[in-house]
Amino acid sequence: MIIVIDGPAGSGKSSTARAVANRLSIEYLDSGALYRAVTLVYLEAGCEEEKFFSLLQKKDISFYYRDQLFHIAIDGSSVTDDIRTAAVAENVSEVAAMPDVRAFVNDLMRDVVKEGIYIAEGRDLGTAVFPDAELKFYMWADLDERAQRRFDERKDKNPDLTFEQVKESIAQRDQKDASREADPLKKADDAIEIDTTAMTFEQQVDEICWKVKQ
Ligand code: CDP
Repeated sequence: MIIVIDGPAGSGKSSTARAVANRLSIEYLDSGALYRAVTLVYLEAGCEEEKFFSLLQKKDISFYYRDQLFHIAIDGSSVTDDIRTAAVAENVSEVAAMPDVRAFVNDLMRDVVKEGIYIAEGRDLGTAVFPDAELKFYMWADLDERAQRRFDERKDKNPDLTFEQVKESIAQRDQKDASREADPLKKADDAIEIDTTAMTFEQQVDEICWKVKQ
């Protein structure tokens, strides 16, 4: 069984999906983290496409959810923190637009959800990856609200960061994610839409848990 949440950056998908997973004792899958890990391989290959794909074939990408954190490793070494750098954020949408990358990540995900009950979040899960998901949500919020959330999340770790930088980075990523040819960010026709702009975190979690239990 799989429940999916799609939506743009900062819409609250990750934190909400994790809280739902904890409350309902189900597994959590962060598809964006997989694209971010693949982006690390792209950076390691010096952003050269041919070198990148041959390197990617040799990499073992493993992941699991525990203690509120989606852990991810490449060849056994944790990259859970490394996937959150600005360099990864700047390149991930370009990498995720490559159809071969999408096929690679989709295979990883489809393989793991064969067993267990999952809540997964991303951009195209309800439309392209799991079109038959039992329950689909599309979460979004105003750009300013999403940028503020992301800024609040990151400012302690990076004191030089400004709200405007975060807003610009998110806006650019949204634009690239929604306009790419291969499986763009899009609400599935049968997804339940949740505008989180004026919602509290608890309200978001309650709403999804309530629908799941129905
Ligand atoms: O957490 P945040 O919303 O910033 O982004 P993320 O979920 O970590 O995803 C990072 C990037 O991966 C997105 O901006 C997309 O370019 C890509 N992505 C995708 O193309 N398809 C997905 N299903 C999930 C992420």
